[in-house]
Amino acid sequence: MSEVLAHQIATHTGFVALVDELYEAGPWLAERAWRERPFASAAALKACLARTVREASRDEQVALLRVPADCRNGVAARLAASADATGPMQASPADAARLRELGDDYAARFGWPFVPEVSAPPVREPGAPQMLEDLRRRLDNPMELELVESLRQLHRIAELRLNRRLGLRPLLGEQVLEWCELLAEHSEPPWQAQGKLTVTYLSAAHRACAARLRQWMVECGFDEVHLDAIGNVVGIYHAEHRDAPRLLTGSHYDTVRDAGRLDGRVGILVPMLGVRELARARRRLPFGIEVVGFAEEEGQRFQAAFLGSSALVGSFDPAWLELRDEHGVRLREAMIEAGLPGTMEAIRALRRDPARYLGFVEVHIEQGPVLESLDLPLGIVHSINASARAVGEVVGMAAHAGTTPMDARRDAACAVAELILLAERSAAQAPGAVATVGQLEVPGGSVNVVPGRCRFSLDVRAPDDALRDRVRTQIEVGLREVCARRGLRMELRETLREPAAPSDAGLQARWERALEGLGVPVLRMSSGAGHDAMKMHRLLPQAMLFVRGAHGGISHNALESSTADDLHLACQAFQRLLEDFRASC
Ligand code: GLV
Ligand code: MN
Ligand code: MN
Repeated sequence: MSEVLAHQIATHTGFVALVDELYEAGPWLAERAWRERPFASAAALKACLARTVREASRDEQVALLRVPADCRNGVAARLAASADATGPMQASPADAARLRELGDDYAARFGWPFVPEVSAPPVREPGAPQMLEDLRRRLDNPMELELVESLRQLHRIAELRLNRRLGLRPLLGEQVLEWCELLAEHSEPPWQAQGKLTVTYLSAAHRACAARLRQWMVECGFDEVHLDAIGNVVGIYHAEHRDAPRLLTGSHYDTVRDAGRLDGRVGILVPMLGVRELARARRRLPFGIEVVGFAEEEGQRFQAAFLGSSALVGSFDPAWLELRDEHGVRLREAMIEAGLPGTMEAIRALRRDPARYLGFVEVHIEQGPVLESLDLPLGIVHSINASARAVGEVVGMAAHAGTTPMDARRDAACAVAELILLAERSAAQAPGAVATVGQLEVPGGSVNVVPGRCRFSLDVRAPDDALRDRVRTQIEVGLREVCARRGLRMELRETLREPAAPSDAGLQARWERALEGLGVPVLRMSSGAGHDAMKMHRLLPQAMLFVRGAHGGISHNALESSTADDLHLACQAFQRLLEDFRASC
């Protein structure tokens, strides 16, 4: 903890004054938080204050939101002066009028003023159009969700005030965010023109991201940087002795369609900063560090996922080279077009020898609500859920929508509609399991034609393989019954099956010591999302570190975000992990 902070909170008077400066809550917040002393760090203090607000009565929470202080005072104040006092927000008279109008609607609906998203460098202050969009979106939020979202903004304001007060700048976290912004400049048509981020395997945007990562790795001081035969960007920082074992780390740089900016990328950039700091200090460790920007994890362009990490563990299926994307381009052709060899020989050569590595660690945003709901910046993953994906098609009979009686139809889309509800029910009845039909298509469908075909995807996940299989089977059996009843034919083809990946106890303990050293409360949690670590698990012990995401941890969505403060803590945790390895090597 900084000396300034330690001094300020050493006495009751100092503590009350600080908390009042941060939240303007009146004495109750400081008094309750005071009972929770001592605080191991600024992060622990912030977590305690947020928890105290979470546990306060609803009236106390709403009263906090009604405090008429500068940036909290909703739309009007934001038009007058921005949160970090950089000047009033520029808005056309029409936008300003609309903002005021929606701000009034907001206050009338929720009972407190709109607290806008607070930004801090390097994230740009949102302009009026962005704020209008946020206001519209949040006006649709259910009351309880919006209360949590508004309180989150309050905690963020308090955090920025605390940073200002202590003269702290989360420089490493700011660097991660800045790099994420720069990587997000590369997106594919038609998404790019809409200001949306989509980077699928070996597209021009994907190759541009790889080039940027390579350049940054060189600038960070990696000894060797290269693009491998699958398109992974690999950076190596040698140990004191070149043949010493290495710590393997990284995550993916491809994205889903209309993605957030942090998914995957954070796990490449955080370790890159770890290496940059070592190189700047001209330090070598007794082990090497190998950072991999995995080329493909999301399974968007071809019906196969984890292409990058599959190559490293030797499980790349040769049949994948023949897969075609939606334009009919084969994976092998896409590789050759991108300047990669496109041969199994080159891909097989990427398999790592586990004897040469200490293990695999991956930093990733949580992509879920747990850390935010507990007001914690970081979490340690104890296990990654099992998953299975499939694509399917139901075939019935296309027919005239006006003349075909309801009891004579063989409507393929109706069967898939039943499937969706069946998937929802099956997963809801199996605690911990989730099932999603994320893609639906009536090929060549028309407004006046009963759907003769319907294509769909299915994604099922659960904490363990047996539960995943039970839910998956239940859904498939149910769909077969639906099709039999409706006189339809169906096909279901599995495209992915990954077992659950429990984290290595020793690596988890290393992350735990890193968090304890930072004074960050330790939480162990499971991962609902799939990760490269899941594949690497086949070859090496692995353990992941999660970073809190904002907006309830939303991900696979452009709203995905995190703060420089949380990302800075992740960078520090990674640096401490390196020191922990050093101490035991
Ligand atoms: C990857 O993001 C996945 O979990 O689907
Ligand atoms: Mn993802
Ligand atoms: Mn990811």
